[in-house]
Amino acid sequence: MIAIEEVRKRFIKHFDGKTGSIYFSPGRINLIGEHTDYNGGFVFPGAVDKGVTAEMRVNGTEDMVMCYAIDLKDRVDFHLNDEKGPRTSWARYIFGIAKEMQKLGVPVKGFNIAFSGDVPLGAGMSSSAAMESCFACGLNDLFGDNKISKWDMVLAGQATEHNYCGVNCGIMDQFASVFGEEGKLMRLDCYSREFEYFPFKPEGYKLVLLNSCVKHELAGSPYNDRRNSCERVVKAVAARHPEAIFETLRDCTWEQLEEVRSEVGEEDYKRAHFVLGEKDRVLAVCEALNAGDYETVGKKMYETHEGLSKEYEVSCEELDFLNDIAKECGVTGSRIMGGGFGGCTINLVKEELYENFIETARRKYAEKYNKLPKVIDVIIGQGSHKIC
Ligand code: GLA
Repeated sequence: MIAIEEVRKRFIKHFDGKTGSIYFSPGRINLIGEHTDYNGGFVFPGAVDKGVTAEMRVNGTEDMVMCYAIDLKDRVDFHLNDEKGPRTSWARYIFGIAKEMQKLGVPVKGFNIAFSGDVPLGAGMSSSAAMESCFACGLNDLFGDNKISKWDMVLAGQATEHNYCGVNCGIMDQFASVFGEEGKLMRLDCYSREFEYFPFKPEGYKLVLLNSCVKHELAGSPYNDRRNSCERVVKAVAARHPEAIFETLRDCTWEQLEEVRSEVGEEDYKRAHFVLGEKDRVLAVCEALNAGDYETVGKKMYETHEGLSKEYEVSCEELDFLNDIAKECGVTGSRIMGGGFGGCTINLVKEELYENFIETARRKYAEKYNKLPKVIDVIIGQGSHKIC
């Protein structure tokens, strides 16, 4: 977490010398269940100890929002009533969430905000959800008497991505950022929105991320294309089965997918094939975790990587390379984490193999790509909250 003194210093310096309230929201990891959230499936995320810290204060104006991005040393001011909102991409998260909170009935007016983050950008750890839920938490406190529920804040964050940032994402990232609890992963059913906390302390293992430092960018990316593929398959299945309701791939069976294979084409078929498999893998991992069977957890992680790489096609050369090194080093489980197209692998590794794995990955990656992967040890932290 960012030092709050630093945020406060900037807030005082860049505005009128007064202090406000400080809020924090984390990024996330996801053990398994990738690209399943917008398909009505299961995900298995947890909040991390890194995130976005913002100081915010009502400024007494009708609709003037003054923002300072500490890490970028960038200032943007805008009017809430200006329909288009600011052009600067980071400021659109503030504009978007303010508008979405207004839609929920929170009478958001002018405010000042300075914020900073330590979730690596483009690493697949949801720096953008950390911003959305942090700002939502602040606006709910400053203008909404904290009456907006956690779920509504999650949905406001997701709507911000859809309506202001061009990413048709699911709800996993915002959910993890808002609902996270220290030391616990969460299994969320993205269809019913029921979820369970899972204390996660694998004896004798470590969970570590290796950031390929290939930056992923979901806005305007093939991410939305993947989602469209899935929706086309659902439509095709629904057309053949008027007797039942098909909302997402969650409702489709393997047989029904086979029925529409030639109609939807090989690419859409492969995408849906991955999603159906991933739905089953999350459940298998939950069972294995309950039994303390980490070998099965790891095996499923490798299967997910394979599917994300070959069927869903959201990997890249560097991530496949890191995955191969993990295999060579005897790492129990390894896979791409998050949306893909760059970012991190998540690795479940036995403590006694950890050092050799990290050392080998650093050396081999540097030899091949002339840069080091960044090692991020995972600490499962607390969700959105007010600091002071
Ligand atoms: C991104 C999206 C999520 C989810 C993942 C892939 O992080 O924001 O909603 O779809 O990709 O699992």
